[in-house]
Amino acid sequence: MFSHLPSPQQDPILSLSAAYRKDTRDNKVDLGIGVYKNSDGVTPVMRAVIAAQQKMLDAQTTKAYVGMAGDEEFNLQALRLLTQDQSVIERASSIQTPGASGGLRMLAEIIAFSQPGSTVWLSNPSYVNHQPVMEAAGLKVKHYQYFDAKTKQVDLNAMLSDLKGAGRQDIVLLHGCCHNPTGADLSVEGWKAVTELAQHNGFTPFIDIAYQGFGNGLEQDAFGVQYMSANLPEMLVTSSCSKNFGLYRERTGSAIIIGENITHANNARGKLMQLARSTYTMPPAHGASIVKTILLDNDLTADWKSELEEMRLRLRALRTGLCQEIKQRSGSDEFEFIKQHQGMFSVLGFSAEQMVKLREQYAIYGVDDGRINIAGLREQDLANVAQAIIDVKS
Ligand code: LMR
Repeated sequence: MFSHLPSPQQDPILSLSAAYRKDTRDNKVDLGIGVYKNSDGVTPVMRAVIAAQQKMLDAQTTKAYVGMAGDEEFNLQALRLLTQDQSVIERASSIQTPGASGGLRMLAEIIAFSQPGSTVWLSNPSYVNHQPVMEAAGLKVKHYQYFDAKTKQVDLNAMLSDLKGAGRQDIVLLHGCCHNPTGADLSVEGWKAVTELAQHNGFTPFIDIAYQGFGNGLEQDAFGVQYMSANLPEMLVTSSCSKNFGLYRERTGSAIIIGENITHANNARGKLMQLARSTYTMPPAHGASIVKTILLDNDLTADWKSELEEMRLRLRALRTGLCQEIKQRSGSDEFEFIKQHQGMFSVLGFSAEQMVKLREQYAIYGVDDGRINIAGLREQDLANVAQAIIDVKS
């Protein structure tokens, strides 16, 4: 049965973590997988999460099953983190999913069920797992131009020009904020222009928002979701609590359907629940319970927001620090774009060979598509990483 199977391909991100752990060099730096690390190089359990877990431990009386849609209070709170617009909330429904990857897959499955043969348009480049997840659900994938390799910013004109080819049966996947891998986000004008095109051409937006709070702030980072949901009849959203609550391994995400009306959205949710039942039955409860406990408690919410803001500001400082080190050492402005990027990632514009060189010669682990995770830096790494980037570039 298994004899004809080819040897497995390594996951381009997760395999890096394993290689990093095995590396015995003292100067190694992990800028691979998207996790936030503090100045000691530790991914902390957030203060509000520790407090919420304690509260839950004291109050928990059962481990009985929850339900196919997961925790309903979590579902509502996760939606409200994205939008407070009552006219949108009234035609939205959602399920809790095992991380945003689970949300991506469930939403891809419902697209394939509702509109068989649909094409999903992905940004070029996009999160390395987007294409495999869409294709695993049987969807066709096309790409739209997004990132200008010269300016290292979004090329809005090229994006709009490609998306003119997306029609009624098509889905356009957008990154809500903190684009993965580039760090280059749509401006307010960009969101408005893509929305206008969707109104005109009839394609359905699908927003993946996994880094809310790491770009310009919790509220600002949801602009795209808010603007599109208020101005379009239908939309799909998947959101993640992995990064902004630091709940990575708890697999806590949402799949949200915004319909023309609540009947459509609820029918879609019913299908999502069936899909969940035939895939994993129901999502894990712990992470959602933590998020719910925090968001239903004013003090815990305030503490969570303030720690998230500290993380966001530290990320900004790391970006500035890295740029300063590069500029001081090289005298060049070439990497100043790192300061303009949002969230955890930036692409350096390096080839796979250059990323291998960074890894093999300098013990700096980034993804082969040229992505580095700024949130993996410690202040003490800045000088070495800056010098390595200069050396590998030249
Ligand atoms: C990343 O892009 O590094 C994260 O989203 C982790 C993952 O699942 O790939």
